[in-house]
Amino acid sequence: MNDIILSAENDIIISTSRLTKAFGNLVAVNDLNLRVMRGDVFGFLGPNGSGKTTTIRMLLGLIRPTAGRAFIFGLDNQYQLPRILRRIGAVVETPVFYPYLSGRDNLRILAAASDMARHPLNDQRIEEVLELVELRAQAGLAYHTYSLGMKQRLGIAAALLTDPELILLDEPTNGLDPVGMVEIRQLIVRLAQQGKTIFLSSHILHEVQQVCNRVAILHRGNLIKQGDVAALLRQSEHILIRMKSSAEAQAALQLLQEAREGGATWIKAVAAAGAGPSEQPGKASEARGEAATTLRVEAPAERSAEINALLARRDLFAAEIHPHEGSLEEAFLELTAAAQFPGASASAFGGLPSPLPPGRSMLGEGKRQ
Ligand SMILES: Nc1ncnc2c1ncn2[C@@H]1O[C@H](COP(=O)(O)OP(=O)(O)OP(=O)(O)O)[C@@H](O)[C@H]1O
Ligand SMILES: [Mg+2]
Repeated sequence: MNDIILSAENDIIISTSRLTKAFGNLVAVNDLNLRVMRGDVFGFLGPNGSGKTTTIRMLLGLIRPTAGRAFIFGLDNQYQLPRILRRIGAVVETPVFYPYLSGRDNLRILAAASDMARHPLNDQRIEEVLELVELRAQAGLAYHTYSLGMKQRLGIAAALLTDPELILLDEPTNGLDPVGMVEIRQLIVRLAQQGKTIFLSSHILHEVQQVCNRVAILHRGNLIKQGDVAALLRQSEHILIRMKSSAEAQAALQLLQEAREGGATWIKAVAAAGAGPSEQPGKASEARGEAATTLRVEAPAERSAEINALLARRDLFAAEIHPHEGSLEEAFLELTAAAQFPGASASAFGGLPSPLPPGRSMLGEGKRQ
């Protein structure tokens, strides 16, 4: 029993207790309780100014909390910072490198300046990290000739030199083009496969959705959600069904409600929807007369065929069935709406705006550097 408790404690990599930072009257981070487990790829999400960087700076001991504590590897970072920092690699602000030296020589300088007694860094390690961030081919080129994506990857390479257990990355894809973003994402996956714990902040939700297993969502300094990505995605998944007439829609609604009450508990709710299945931006569904013919079923997207079969058995043939996988973006919108207007819910049908074009986020686009 004790062993189980001990191993669970060993597996908590970051835990904060009521961590708070105020700048004058502004509470940048409020009463934050985070928990990151070993092996997590943990997404720390929030719009600009929500307190992500402030939190990371407190974790790294760069600024002091106004209240609360942070434990990393079970060690209190107020008292045991040097022991903690030896096991962490971080990229917080754009790292400073010598512009006219090559990427490889920049890493050599950093390796020479690092804690040699503990991490006898040598050329072999430098080649390993260059390989990991896929910069070996360009490692001999001067830093100032690097693209933003290459600069970002060299920064990560520098953070990896000491082979840290925990890697903190503050908006690693900021300002990168889609190719640069994919490269960073692939790098994060490789690091996770090596068993590293990764804590990464971002305001680009669809990015995070693809690499993180757990997330915390910050809104104006407050934690509004912390949990598994898969569970959050399930929260906003649903199926839209368009019938040919409002009479058929009414019949289908009744049928599905009966099915739910009769044991199909995977149907969480059924209601008339305000948005058509095609969700075309700019087209009001009511103008298309779809409000009366479309149903929204709160159910796992993969159950669409089953719903279709249920309806067909009663001679109700759907004009369109649209399984909708959940997204972090929708979960975020629901959660922030709930945080701003307690009691109200953005999941009310038709409450969500049309999907944005790929690459865009409701939290805004990546900042240019
Ligand atoms: N040194 C400081 N002095 C005063 N206010 C600060 C300071 N650092 C941060 N803030 C404020 O604290 C709030 C949180 O800022 P923070 O940089 O942590 O946000 P963020 O989530 O990292 O945002 P971004 O996505 O823009 O990087 C902001 O309102 C910011 O203006
Ligand atoms: Mg920031």
